[in-house]
Amino acid sequence: MQQGATLLWALRSPCNLGCLYCYFGTIEDTGRRETTPGALSHIGRDDISLHDALFFISTMTPECVRRVFVAGGEPLVWRGTMSVLAALKAQGCEVIVCTNGLPLQKQELCRSLLDLSIDAVSISLDSYDAQYNDHWRRDKSGQGWKGVVQGIETLIQQRNERSASTKIGVYSVITRRNLAQMVATGRFVADLGVDYFIVQPIALASDHPLFGELSLEACHREAFQAQIHALHQAHLGIHLAHPSYIQQVLTTLSPGPLPVIKSCFGGRDLFFIEPNGSVWDCPSMDKIQQTPSTHYRTMKGASAEALFSRERRGRNTDCTLFSQDCVNMWQLMQFDAILTQERRTHEQLL
Ligand SMILES: C[S@@+](CC[C@H](N)C(=O)[O-])C[C@H]1O[C@@H](n2cnc3c(N)ncnc32)[C@H](O)[C@@H]1O
Ligand code: SF4
Repeated sequence: MQQGATLLWALRSPCNLGCLYCYFGTIEDTGRRETTPGALSHIGRDDISLHDALFFISTMTPECVRRVFVAGGEPLVWRGTMSVLAALKAQGCEVIVCTNGLPLQKQELCRSLLDLSIDAVSISLDSYDAQYNDHWRRDKSGQGWKGVVQGIETLIQQRNERSASTKIGVYSVITRRNLAQMVATGRFVADLGVDYFIVQPIALASDHPLFGELSLEACHREAFQAQIHALHQAHLGIHLAHPSYIQQVLTTLSPGPLPVIKSCFGGRDLFFIEPNGSVWDCPSMDKIQQTPSTHYRTMKGASAEALFSRERRGRNTDCTLFSQDCVNMWQLMQFDAILTQERRTHEQLL
């Protein structure tokens, strides 16, 4: 039987960080981005209201929506987010919060997430090396890497104190400049006590100013594969990226045309919701731009049933647009393995 859909919900546009490579662009290039359908920006002018979000959630059933990844922008800097998370849990959804980690420095916020039994919290940190991380993940407040690490430690400490089941992990954006740091970063976050460490190759449009400096290409395939191998050989005792996802990453780094994805989960089991409420089959810009305007959908005023019930989901979802822009979705769709893994005991950690 087909399960409820997985939603990647970019709940809010604004963010307290200014990562130079962010999918949402930088504040400086906002004007240029707003004209393209599906383009994201950190300006929250058109973001849906809390009222609209809660109405939509009230229509969800586990049969039509099983799991929601709540991301952004930065979801944990909006006051409405806790109500959204509580409402999602009340509807029986599994909820994974994707955050830059800075807000987790607040004890009360960590307590609230644990009280809600959030299923997992994924925190972004690109390196064990503060200087590298803070160069690309810019923080005007000056906290940066140190604040994120403190946020991770605060959440882990509270989770362990109350033996809560929330999984805690780190996501690292991999570029040609931190490729060689993968194992050291994995070891660093394992020592912090996280449950999972996921590497995600940077996705940049070929006309992005940082494309040449950061993107991984076919010439980086071998080094990427060697780092993944070394990461597994390091026996860090934490969950690493799923092999099928790594295989897809390697495919995007292979020379020649990319394969057609037969019966892709995008539009069938996975959907992407933008901060303005637009609903797409997946977050790939190529896919969004090829969506005919007659197929544009929004969750504003719609019911989850009308958008994601089995009858409404795609059947012929072969896709010719596979690229680095969508490859991270393979890991999201393998999240069962993370949610069901046994946590290491205190003794195993010593
Ligand atoms: C857009 S952020 C939103 C959640 C939160 N603000 C954060 O940084 O974790 C979601 C994830 O996408 C990653 N990301 C942002 N821009 C990216 C890009 N161009 N390529 C690959 N990953 C990117 C972030 O590092 C983060 O792990
Ligand atoms: S913290 Fe997340 S949303 Fe904010 S700029 Fe960085 S990647 Fe983008």
